[in-house]
Amino acid sequence: MPRAHITLDRQAVIAPVRRRTFGSFVEHLGRCVYTGIHEPGHPSANADGFRMDVVELVRELGSTTIRYPGGNFVSGFRWEDSIGPREKRPVRRDLAWHSLESNQVGLDEFARWLKLTDAELMLAVNVATRGILPALDLLEYANHPSGTALSDLRVANGTPEPHDVRMWCLGNEMDGPWQTGFMTAEDYGKAAARTAAAMKMADKDLELVVCGSSGSGMPTFGDWERTVLEHSYEHVDYISCHAYYQVHDGDLGSFLASAVDMDYFIDTVVATADHVGYKKRSSKKIDVSFDEWNVWYLKEHQESQEANSEAVNAEWRHAPRQLEDVYTVADAVVVGNLLMTLLKRSDRVASASLAQLVNVIAPIMTEPGGPAWRQTTFYPFSITSRLAAGEVIRPLIEAPMYTTARHGEASVIDAVATVDEDRVAVFLVNRDLTQAVQVAVDVRGLGSARVVEAVTLADADVYAKNTLAEPQRVVPKANSSVTLADGVLSIELPPVSWTAIALR
Ligand code: AHR
Repeated sequence: MPRAHITLDRQAVIAPVRRRTFGSFVEHLGRCVYTGIHEPGHPSANADGFRMDVVELVRELGSTTIRYPGGNFVSGFRWEDSIGPREKRPVRRDLAWHSLESNQVGLDEFARWLKLTDAELMLAVNVATRGILPALDLLEYANHPSGTALSDLRVANGTPEPHDVRMWCLGNEMDGPWQTGFMTAEDYGKAAARTAAAMKMADKDLELVVCGSSGSGMPTFGDWERTVLEHSYEHVDYISCHAYYQVHDGDLGSFLASAVDMDYFIDTVVATADHVGYKKRSSKKIDVSFDEWNVWYLKEHQESQEANSEAVNAEWRHAPRQLEDVYTVADAVVVGNLLMTLLKRSDRVASASLAQLVNVIAPIMTEPGGPAWRQTTFYPFSITSRLAAGEVIRPLIEAPMYTTARHGEASVIDAVATVDEDRVAVFLVNRDLTQAVQVAVDVRGLGSARVVEAVTLADADVYAKNTLAEPQRVVPKANSSVTLADGVLSIELPPVSWTAIALR
């Protein structure tokens, strides 16, 4: 059996664990909101119509920050449509997803839902097709205590306390030709700077996210970040990164190394942001808001969309089934590994959002009138969110390497650890397609410890999934191979697996 050796040293601190790393994303898209989190007729629904079975799962998932209401949706959204008496709210066409938006869930309801889940709200404003004044109006409605037209309107609508939203996205994926009102980097950089400056006139402590590229594969990637930041650097706090991964042409080896690409992506964006900062002689650093990341079978989605384009164009449906990817064990291993990378980059990644939360490329699935269940990808996210605490430690990894077609050389084993006063968490992946790997983790540098939990997600069938018919087909299991002797933790990692170990 191949072997790997990892050394953990308490001194090798990268940064504190940032709780916002465990963020998520709710977009008015498909069934994420309607029949996902909101289904008034459902047996578990509360007075607002929110499914409490889903709330329970979101709490278990451990989402800390939720980006809302889009996504591409936000670029056609008039926020005023979604407040006040529900019977008066207009139905609109959502061009981004070619569907109907009933506006039955809006800011005030969503904020109430967030309270049930204990997560923080991160709001996006429509920079693409609206402007500065609607953004300021939304800010006034959301955050101003009372005594102004829009704050009093919120109070009259039943929300006396301000929502006090700290993080705001200045639009979404503004470089993408699919975006309603997409812009050039020059135009967007100027629009974002003006919007940000005005929003900070209202509240200088807001944390503003300017749009980076919608992916590192965009032809303008790099130049986009540079140009946008040259215009907006002084006014914004974070730049966004978005990345979706999938298996291409059956190449599982490359797919399992997706985290290598994510790491390189973060490096590039940080270097570009710092380059602009140095040029401006600024002492300020722009950190990353990785506000969309996941596995998404986008290629298949685009192909089926093209094949169905006539039928799709003829119909405007409310909450259609869209982007309902069903995730495999291999997908969960990649999601777990991407989250490990975000943790490892806590020095510059301030916040992240798994896209999305329910039904739409999501860790949680629901059936209308029926159950809610956990996808395979739910587990690495929820366990990492629960165990990661204190400071992120850079592990020294000695492991076999392998060559991938898409991401060059990759280590068969990847790892990260977090250390708090009285607990340590170690997260590991084995990317080998066929072989288990025996891993020794030297924890002598962390003081005395005992293992309190060791779980592994793996399956003889790496394509096994959880479905409505078999919702518990894939669950993490205790890894009984774990031992701790003389400060060395030993564990066998099955092929294509994700593992978490908690020590006290
Ligand atoms: O998460 C799905 C979509 O992916 C979002 O709406 C958009 O921002 C991205 O292209």
